[in-house]
Amino acid sequence: MLDVVNLTHTYGSGPDAHRALGGIDLKVSEGELVCVVGPSGCGKSTLLRSIAGLVRPTGGEVRVKGRPVSGTPDDLAVVFQDYSRSLFPWLSVRDNVALPLRRRGLDRAARRAAAAEALAAVSLESAAAKYPWQLSGGMQQRVAIARALAYRPSLLLMDEPFGSVDAQTREDLEDLVLAVRGHHRMTIVLITHDIDESVYVGDRVVVLTRAPAVVAADLRVDLPGPRDQIATRELPAFVHLRAEVSRLVRGRPEFGPEEFNTVPPHTTTSPLVKTPSHLTKE
Ligand SMILES: Nc1ncnc2c1ncn2[C@@H]1O[C@H](COP(=O)(O)OP(=O)(O)OP(=O)(O)O)[C@@H](O)[C@H]1O
Ligand SMILES: [Mg+2]
Repeated sequence: MLDVVNLTHTYGSGPDAHRALGGIDLKVSEGELVCVVGPSGCGKSTLLRSIAGLVRPTGGEVRVKGRPVSGTPDDLAVVFQDYSRSLFPWLSVRDNVALPLRRRGLDRAARRAAAAEALAAVSLESAAAKYPWQLSGGMQQRVAIARALAYRPSLLLMDEPFGSVDAQTREDLEDLVLAVRGHHRMTIVLITHDIDESVYVGDRVVVLTRAPAVVAADLRVDLPGPRDQIATRELPAFVHLRAEVSRLVRGRPEFGPEEFNTVPPHTTTSPLVKTPSHLTKE
């Protein structure tokens, strides 16, 4: 479904040039959910934007369903990290979710029905007639998720999609993504700072190094399904794997642990390495 081959990207040129991606290789099969973790600023969003055809990479290639990506592929949806700028302020929440469905050739009634269903899935049916600027940040983020899910893309790219929601909603949204993926056989690439989350939702966890980013590790998550927020996180295999990801991240000399435990001032997301939620919930 997705092939990323020796992808490199440098912003700018001359002495101010910044080499963000140092040669990323990544294959994602149809129906797989791959989580990408890595230090802040390492190039995760750059990777995602390159896959979406929004950044023209300096080198290497991205292929979706075997075809090199030049513009944005039709059958793809993106949930951007900066969700507040991804909704149209002059459209109601309902219309924001329904608008892309025009490309699916659905008539007005079908678009409204699909939007209503997606908004109900993120518990926002009562906000359908409101405008994005009338909603909290977490609610806007859920609208952006609803819009992507309603589109039913075969490839869904999500960049820190649950960064601004409370812990309970975050768990509900993780389960929603797993359910939608199961029903509609979407292929999903999900970027997160949260190691627990990456192990909980992922079929694989891909760890990136800091810039210029390369793949430091690509781990298969062999946990029994369906996953359950309490039971899965208690499994010895879960605890073992989250420790392995943490160790991998911390164990590399170029990854200072402090780098992963610091939340940069501009982010609202959790630090990459944190106490497992199953230990803090008691
Ligand atoms: N349009 C741009 N022009 C110049 N530099 C950029 C641009 N976009 C990103 N960068 C730089 O490229 C690097 C990678 O940015 P990117 O947003 O991909 O990182 P990230 O891993 O998504 O970070 P975060 O975890 O904070 O979301 C950063 O140093 C950033 O400053
Ligand atoms: Mg980013």
